[in-house]
Amino acid sequence: MSGAVVLEASALAKHYPVSTGFLTPKALARALDGVSFTLCAGTTLAVVGESGCGKSTLARQLTMIERPTRGALLLDGADVTHADAALKKRLRQQVQMVFQNPYASLNPRKKIGHALEEPLAINTAATRAERRERARAMLARVGLRPEHDVRYPHMFSGGQRQRVAIARALMLQPRIVVLDEPVSALDVSIQAQVLNLLMDLQDETRVAYVFISHNLAVVELIADEVLVMYLGKVVEQAPKAMLFGTPRHPYTRALLASTPRIDAGARRDRPVLTGELPSPLTPPSGCAFHQRCPHAVARCRAEVPPLEDLGSGQRVACHRVHEIG
Ligand SMILES: Nc1ncnc2c1ncn2[C@@H]1O[C@H](COP(=O)(O)OP(=O)(O)OP(=O)(O)O)[C@@H](O)[C@H]1O
Ligand SMILES: [Mg+2]
Repeated sequence: MSGAVVLEASALAKHYPVSTGFLTPKALARALDGVSFTLCAGTTLAVVGESGCGKSTLARQLTMIERPTRGALLLDGADVTHADAALKKRLRQQVQMVFQNPYASLNPRKKIGHALEEPLAINTAATRAERRERARAMLARVGLRPEHDVRYPHMFSGGQRQRVAIARALMLQPRIVVLDEPVSALDVSIQAQVLNLLMDLQDETRVAYVFISHNLAVVELIADEVLVMYLGKVVEQAPKAMLFGTPRHPYTRALLASTPRIDAGARRDRPVLTGELPSPLTPPSGCAFHQRCPHAVARCRAEVPPLEDLGSGQRVACHRVHEIG
């Protein structure tokens, strides 16, 4: 199933200087604090975690919208962080982004055909006629009518607009598409259609997805691998079946318990998440989750747990992983 590694993040970090008051020195928000993973062609890595855990910050580093404070990003083996302008431009074409709200990412005054042709006009030598042809072909591929390329974004429904945004992201045949909550703003019935489209497109093109979502039901449908983030760090990573079947981190278990699942019996004795995500300006000592964890002991308050490889592709950052079963 999995092909070559297309993206490798190692210890990626993004710290934002934040002003906390007049005359006080700036504090650092550790929005992303050492995230590592690899992504293979034709596969989907889902990134989950509560609001504020750093998912969109990760997306901005992967898509090169921002420059990480620390860490390395390899795209097809090329080091993004130290690339010169020419290489960066080429690498940027390989990673495209789809946002939650397609209305915000599409120019309301431009026909959608124009939105689709634009990446070709900027990055390729294709003629006008070729660009138009490819835009119309792409519309057909995402389930829209080619002749609707002359329409404006407001003339489409939310689901159709998201199809346009997906089409635009695919125009340059990227290796990776980062999708930040791509179906969260859509009706449930429409969500399934867009997810099916994404899976079909992946089968056809072998594009890899980084799929950000707080909706675990959606993740269970689309993911191959799942990365669970907490306060800028990875607390657990595993193949989908393992993450949903035998979650090992107390935070993952709490997240699953707080989400309605089809298999309700499987979550009967799981703890529910209480309290709030701490601020990345003042992260707790030791394990960032210790204040909300029912299993926390003194060591959890003192030492940061390393991400331990449990075998079969499951990695967990918890001091007590072997004791709590
Ligand atoms: N430019 C910035 N300057 C300062 N702090 C920031 C900046 N961007 C993000 N943060 C902080 O970093 C943390 C992570 O934010 P991020 O938007 O990545 O979270 P998220 O997981 O995408 O949340 P959500 O699910 O709500 O979209 C938050 O505490 C946020 O306030
Ligand atoms: Mg976000």
